[in-house]
Amino acid sequence: MSTAMLETQSTDTADAAIQAFTVTFLIRRFDPDVDAEPRWQDFDVEMYATDRVLDALHKIKWEQDGSLTFRRSCAHGICGSDAMRINGRNRLACKTLIKDLDISKPIYVEAIKGLPLEKDLVVDMEPFFASYREVQPFLIANSQPEAGKERIQSIAKREIFDDTTKCILCAACTSSCPVFWTDGQYFGPAAIVNAHRFIFDSRDDAASVRLDILNDKEGVWRCRTTFNCTDACPRGIEVTKAIAEVKQAIIRGKP
Ligand code: SF4
Ligand code: F3S
Ligand code: FES
Repeated sequence: MSTAMLETQSTDTADAAIQAFTVTFLIRRFDPDVDAEPRWQDFDVEMYATDRVLDALHKIKWEQDGSLTFRRSCAHGICGSDAMRINGRNRLACKTLIKDLDISKPIYVEAIKGLPLEKDLVVDMEPFFASYREVQPFLIANSQPEAGKERIQSIAKREIFDDTTKCILCAACTSSCPVFWTDGQYFGPAAIVNAHRFIFDSRDDAASVRLDILNDKEGVWRCRTTFNCTDACPRGIEVTKAIAEVKQAIIRGKP
């Protein structure tokens, strides 16, 4: 390809990025003080291809309806606070680019499922964090390292649980799980991922305690290997694989 063609192409791409267009958002609203049931409300928003759904929510809140309620903090895929259903799939609003959505149709935005709806896109996360706390997501070691020394771990042993250290507790996995929808008692994939992170840590001495907790009737055996959780995870964690490894550890013991 000639340099002239490349330059034309990159100019076209740049032009597309700076061209604003109107996108319709259908947002599922709920105000517990007024509404008996959630209702859909549409908003037309001027957007650029490189904007994110979070930018649209900001524009609506700041320019059209200040009562629109949603959570967000970092805006960069780190804090995990803006998981929501966008066109029926759980995603982080701050990581979902407009150019990756079909804007010929309205974009549907609603709260994640399976947790009590509080207002608009905000759910009560307490049941989610209760399960997380229950698996004891912190290092429990029986002995102390020598004064001034670290707890030594080989690169290979660290690698075993590297994937599950990436969790940002966004709940996209748990709230996409059909077992969790039908039975909010299930620990859910996020709690199991965070148990996995410590169960397979060679410096931790409480794997058997966590495995006992997850061997419960509401624990890992409720998982039906649906893979929704893996598809939903914005960190690319192999959630279903981690759950399978915990099941194996219950049967065979910590490797
Ligand atoms: Fe979110 Fe992934 Fe952690 Fe689930 S495992 S809470 S989807 S980061
Ligand atoms: Fe649910 Fe994931 Fe298992 S979606 S059924 S926890 S594989
Ligand atoms: Fe922090 Fe999206 S706002 S992850």
